[in-house]
Amino acid sequence: MLTILFLGDVVGEPGRSAVIANLPRLKESHAVDFVIVNGENAAGGRGITPKITIDLLRAGVSVITTGDHVWDQKEILTFIDTEPRLLRPVNYPAGAPGHGSIVLETAKGKVAVINVQMRTFMQPILENPFPAIEAAVAVARRETPVVFVDAHGETTSEKIAIGRFLDGKASAVVGTHTHVQTADEQIFPGGTAFLCDAGMCGPANSILGRAVEPIVNRFISNLPALFPVAKGEVRLSGAVVQVDETNGRAISITRVNELIPVPPSETPATG
Ligand SMILES: [Fe+2]
Ligand SMILES: [Fe+2]
Repeated sequence: MLTILFLGDVVGEPGRSAVIANLPRLKESHAVDFVIVNGENAAGGRGITPKITIDLLRAGVSVITTGDHVWDQKEILTFIDTEPRLLRPVNYPAGAPGHGSIVLETAKGKVAVINVQMRTFMQPILENPFPAIEAAVAVARRETPVVFVDAHGETTSEKIAIGRFLDGKASAVVGTHTHVQTADEQIFPGGTAFLCDAGMCGPANSILGRAVEPIVNRFISNLPALFPVAKGEVRLSGAVVQVDETNGRAISITRVNELIPVPPSETPATG
């Protein structure tokens, strides 16, 4: 059995600090063999930098997926070709920097990870994700039956459709992007584990990881504003998927949803 830990969109410094600090404990308690995180909001909520990529990989992350925010930090455009463990969606037009999939060796055999972006209510609108993921999964399965897909998208229907489309072909399809965890974890009849959205790793008292007041004011005023990453306790969200590495079928999927207290050094002084 091969155990994969997936963590949803890491938001800003609070999110990445909590992931890095808690990863050793999560790996041990779930007997994790392989860690995937979505890092598209790791840099102040917007994209990911080369340094943050390296920090997450050094902390024990095997592969970092992204999504519509992948290019928000411009240096990633050149950096991504130097770090194959940082993925961008596989359905970018041909010629885009970086790659949308990777196969890595583990002590229990090879694991393929593929990142794909949905199209409904998403910008930019990429190539049709269905044929793109079908082709990418077929290529990956020439090397290994263990295939993990991060389906980055806004709507439940499109993510469920791609999960069902890949049933029996991928070991797991887990959604990202909404920052809100769904409670529909299940194993489809063909053996594919599914969760519509993993949720985020970011400040709990927030709106999708951002400070509450500026977002509420934006909805009221319609005026442009800054949306800083919120502070305080962090919610770590994701899933643990157990896979039979001999045939790629999922054995179980369990949601991760933990509230991490604020470290004492960051607790505001009282009195
Ligand atoms: Fe996100
Ligand atoms: Fe996103």
